[in-house]
Parts: sequence; C-alpha cells; structure tokens
Amino acid sequence: MTLDPRRAQLWKAMGLGPMYRLRAAQMTVATAPLTVVDSPPATTVRARLISRLVWDELREEVANCRACRLCETRKQTVFGVGNVNARWMLIGEAPGSEEDERGEPFVGQAGRLLDSMLASIELTRVGQTQRSVYITNVLKCRPPGNRNPQPGEVALCEPFLRRQIELVSPALIIVMGRFAAQSLLDTDASIAGLRGKRHRITVAGRQIPVVVTYHPAYLLRNLVDKAKSWADLCLAREIDADVSTAQQAQ
Ligand code: URA
Repeated sequence: MTLDPRRAQLWKAMGLGPMYRLRAAQMTVATAPLTVVDSPPATTVRARLISRLVWDELREEVANCRACRLCETRKQTVFGVGNVNARWMLIGEAPGSEEDERGEPFVGQAGRLLDSMLASIELTRVGQTQRSVYITNVLKCRPPGNRNPQPGEVALCEPFLRRQIELVSPALIIVMGRFAAQSLLDTDASIAGLRGKRHRITVAGRQIPVVVTYHPAYLLRNLVDKAKSWADLCLAREIDADVSTAQQAQ
C-alpha cells in the first residue's frame, strides 16, 4: 500500500522518519485518519504512533528523528544501552560530546563514575543478566555546547523515553540530576526536595517507583555528596526489595 502523499507530508513535517512508512504498511484505508482538519494535534498523533513501536522500530525512529533542531548539530543520536528487560532503569539528561561521538549514554568521565557506582552494588550496564541495568537520557541528541535542554526539545523527545520505559518495564527507575528528575516527575522542585523520597510515575497504566539522585557529573565536582548518592542507591535497593516481595505475594 502506498501512503497518501498529503499524509506522508504531514507525518514528515512532524519529524517522523521511517515510522510513517512502517505504519502505512499496516494501516487499512478504513482505519486510517482521513483529513488533517479532523485529526488530533500533530504531537498527539506522533506520540501515539511512537507508543506502538517495537524496539527496532523505535531505535530506527530515534536515529532518523528530525523533530527539533538538535538534529542539525548532533553527530549521531544516543538511544540507550543495557538490558532491555532490566529491573533498574537509569535516566540522565542528555548526551555530552563523548556520547555524541560514540552513540552510547554515559561514556565520558561522568559515565565512568556511574559505572563504578553501579559496580559498588554489583550492577552493570553490560550483558542481559539479572544484574544488568538499562541506561538512557531524557534527550537523545546532544544540545550544542552542552547547554540545558529546552522545553520544546524535551516535549518532542518525551514519547521516545516513555516508550523505552514501557518496553523495558522496569521495577524501578533512578533519575539522575535535577533536569531529568524535574522532567520525569513534572515538577520544579529542587534535587534536595526530591531526594530521599519514594516517587512514582505512571507509564502505560503501570505505576513505577522512581528514586531521584545526583547527576554523576555533579558528583565529580562535589565529592562530599557522594555519601548522599550512596544513600539514594540504598533507598533504591529497599524499594526494589519491596517490589519483589509484593510481586511474590501476587
Ligand atoms: N550526562 C548525561 O546526562 N547523559 C549522558 O549520557 C552523559 C552525560
């Protein structure tokens, strides 16, 4: 089936890459939305389409995304790494220059600290074992000069992160840094106000516990707060144990 050129143009304008082709192939004329005038807002349509993608489609969609201007300055997108069935999912802010270069999150100095923090509680980003976590960022492209992500960029990238969370379906999420915490929890509270608490987000109808901790790059500059980040990991372990107990009781 070929895609109606007008719809193809609309989907392209929404920054959708190969997905519009994939979905066109699956869509019947009867179920396809008919006119632009009757359609929900483009961002809603886009988010709905992304929410149906499987891993390979999602990865390809991110790789080809041109929804915001970060695509003009990135070297490549940075999707995520680790166990796609992980119990723990870690979410940072956005790729930096080394991540942009290598296409993997947290591979610079902050990433090395993150790896050793994970190792201290016998977790790793490597492999697909019970000890392997999944790591990604709120933004999949590097903001130029490592500036803060802009609200429009976050909004356009959010459906990708939501779908990643849905597909991993973790028992627990750890958000690293003020920016990621505020984006995910939809709050403007400070890190100090968010740390040490049991938060929750709802993704695809499922409640997932969230723990907020410092960003590893912040810890590199503020060694004294490493003890607090250790406390955050301990809280995460406690919550994970509670989730396990609840799951076994079911
Ligand atoms: N900082 C982040 O938030 N994410 C990365 O991937 C690297 C640095």
